[in-house]
Amino acid sequence: MNTYKVVITRRVPPPAVEMLAQAGFAVDLIDQDNPPTPEELLQRARGAAGLITMLSERIDAALLDAAGPDLRVVANFAVGFDNIDLAACTQRGVRATNTPGVLTDATADLAWTLILATARRVVEGDRLVRAGEWTGWAPMQYLGLQLSGATLGIVGAGRIGTAVGLRSSGFGLNVLYADEQPNRELEEQVGARRVELGQLIADADVLTLHVPLTSRTRHLIGAEQLAAMKPTAILINTARGPVVDEKALVEALRSGQIAAAGFDVYEHEPRLAPGLTELPNVVVLPHLGSATTATRRKMSQMTAENVIAVLTEQEPPNPVN
Ligand code: GLV
Ligand code: GLV
Repeated sequence: MNTYKVVITRRVPPPAVEMLAQAGFAVDLIDQDNPPTPEELLQRARGAAGLITMLSERIDAALLDAAGPDLRVVANFAVGFDNIDLAACTQRGVRATNTPGVLTDATADLAWTLILATARRVVEGDRLVRAGEWTGWAPMQYLGLQLSGATLGIVGAGRIGTAVGLRSSGFGLNVLYADEQPNRELEEQVGARRVELGQLIADADVLTLHVPLTSRTRHLIGAEQLAAMKPTAILINTARGPVVDEKALVEALRSGQIAAAGFDVYEHEPRLAPGLTELPNVVVLPHLGSATTATRRKMSQMTAENVIAVLTEQEPPNPVN
């Protein structure tokens, strides 16, 4: 029997490597934490039947062709799959898969981490204390946004947007959302109301983004939308960087058009727009949405399950093409 080669483009938590080896595949692990260079990736992919890929790698026609005709599955270690050229995969008979569901709670928790951190100016306060510059309690120091009674605006009420909305009940926010589909769960459980995106942007005290990156959501939040937000509002992005025009964001924060921003994702990761990190009113995380031990293990397992299914002639559990 011909042994299938499966390339994993980064060091990952267990059990993917063990599962693939047990299934009888030859695992070629790119055993490092940093992304391989595009050249290295092309080189290593040659002859692979399966690839486990990260959101930071572009899986395009050139890579698929470099892998060659044995390639049958690309399992993305992420729920988002904007890094994969799906048409190019389909054209070559390559299945693409993702890891939905298992990272919903972790990502919703991180969105709330950013909401609380920006609303209550946690990072600014921490910096002051560490710098040894705190001179004591003061009635006007680092006043933030009161969450109870404020309006949470959710852009995109899919799995993650819903989980973020459901978590709001303990904090007493009013919940609005914009989505093509009504969301019964949000409406029944936290009294959320569906509104047009324009109204959501104008009414939200906290605007949080949970849409996938597509041609329709690229720069969904640009200069015009930022100008329409309340000057006291906070923008949270745990979805994909290009959903926000990051240059316009820096301007809006600088000029006081909005009060603060909490970001986990960026337009050109790992680079940030010039000036963003110089602003005091931003909290910037290094794309940690799904980064819990339990979630990353489940993602690892799911990628292996998808690869094994396709290479043993079964329907993969999480296809995206
Ligand atoms: C992370 O950004 C993911 O899409 O899983
Ligand atoms: C992704 O998991 C989503 O549907 O929000």
